[in-house]
Amino acid sequence: MLKRFSISLEEELLEIFDEHIKARSYSNRSEAIRDLIRKTFVKEEWELDKQVMGVISLVYDHHQHKLQEKVTLVQHDYHHHIVSTTHVHMDHDNCLEVIVVKGKAKEVQDLAAKLTALKGVRDGNLAMSSTGKSLH
Ligand code: NI
Repeated sequence: MLKRFSISLEEELLEIFDEHIKARSYSNRSEAIRDLIRKTFVKEEWELDKQVMGVISLVYDHHQHKLQEKVTLVQHDYHHHIVSTTHVHMDHDNCLEVIVVKGKAKEVQDLAAKLTALKGVRDGNLAMSSTGKSLH
């Protein structure tokens, strides 16, 4: 059930907000505010080391000695945290690996850090999301 409430905002701040939501293609202010609120709670779930979900993306050169093997090895060490892995051959040299992960926030962050730190990994990112249990 949706409930309505009104917000008082300085004119200048509202103008900035309207530009922000226009740039992000929101159809109305309510949806933009709902997303901001949810984002805050997702961030809090990560900070409180709750059960979360995320996506790790890695770009690496598969010619780098034993890198492919190490990427696989680390993932097997964390196999309980890995939901799926997709490997994309980007071009002749580079691979993109997209890993959907779940578990305690700190463990998922450790996994992302270990993969990103491997020599030859050119880009590593962790998109932090959440199972949303407290975000209905
Ligand atoms: Ni590849």
